[in-house]
Amino acid sequence: MVAGDGIGVETTREAVRVLEALAREGALRAELTPFPWSADHTLAAGRALPEGAFERLRRDFDAVLVGAFGDPRIPDMSHAKEILLGMRSRLDLFANVRPVKCLDDRLSPLKGVPASEIDFLVLRENTEGAYVGMGGRFLADTKDEVAIEGDVTTRAGTERICRYAFECARRFGKPRRLGRPPRVLMADKHNVQRFGGELWRRVFLEVAGDFPDCEASHLFADTLAMDIVRRPASFDVIVTNNLFGDILSDLAAALVGGLGVTPSGNVHPGQLSVFEPVHGSAPPLAGKGIANPLGSILSAAMLLRHLGEEAAAGRVDRAVAASVKAGETTVDLGGKLSTAAAGSAVLARLERDAGGHLGPEQAVW
Ligand code: IPM
Ligand code: MN
Repeated sequence: MVAGDGIGVETTREAVRVLEALAREGALRAELTPFPWSADHTLAAGRALPEGAFERLRRDFDAVLVGAFGDPRIPDMSHAKEILLGMRSRLDLFANVRPVKCLDDRLSPLKGVPASEIDFLVLRENTEGAYVGMGGRFLADTKDEVAIEGDVTTRAGTERICRYAFECARRFGKPRRLGRPPRVLMADKHNVQRFGGELWRRVFLEVAGDFPDCEASHLFADTLAMDIVRRPASFDVIVTNNLFGDILSDLAAALVGGLGVTPSGNVHPGQLSVFEPVHGSAPPLAGKGIANPLGSILSAAMLLRHLGEEAAAGRVDRAVAASVKAGETTVDLGGKLSTAAAGSAVLARLERDAGGHLGPEQAVW
């Protein structure tokens, strides 16, 4: 567990309470090891990560829960990039899984669209695209300065994320519930990005051919931004590149109550994976006890699912959904509770619900 900076520390604390409660009652066999990596630690140690950090994670752990990174004392965010983007690329966590599920009608900002209609998954390629840090400056610091930012698309990278999108669609509860084929929509900008976008287009079509039981479709990323707002009910899995996925997943979060409640997983199936709330470190909110812990708690549920602890994950999802329905939340979701009290509301429900039936409609992911 790496709580990181700002509100990450407070929200992770609540998720850890949930994991510890499950471990205490024997519903989870796991050991939790905290790592201090953060802005504080970077400033004190003179470096963001110790030698061999990623190798150690890969060797000794099955999953990592992270909070958030970002601190005004490190204005270029270099430690955040080294830790978070480092984990994504060095641990080859190629799928950023961002479930978008509205837990209560109150949280839907769309007129006449009930919560039940907002339930899809944004799957973001997580290791290449505009995030590779390739490029440079020419005639730096002159009036003729030129900046070039690389955007890398590989066939192998595109193929594995597209394939995973179809696999996720097959497992997704919503199409089964509605009795129709699972849907995968790919978004790119191959109308202007003649090389990378075009490769996405071709690879997606090829992979779709291997999943005849699924419906494959395509939208340009700008059109998709509009349609996520206009017809959210029509999507199951949206797959797209790193940068479009970053932007579209924030847009989608606005349909379910905002960044406070959205979880994510940086996943490499079958390997160590990293789970984090989508929210950032939010320095102005830090230390006030008002941050919403649900994004972190739901990320912990995704982590449990990754470890094969489906029953425990389902209980956490259910406890969160019930707390939201009861209005026992922080102010961002319309409640009155502090971070710790919102965490306690989930814990109380978790402890009352020692198992039982889990309908796929209740699983957040
Ligand atoms: C996210 C964040 C990161 C990203 C930042 C903090 C580098 O916005 O996880 O979505 O752009 O991927
Ligand atoms: Mn983002």
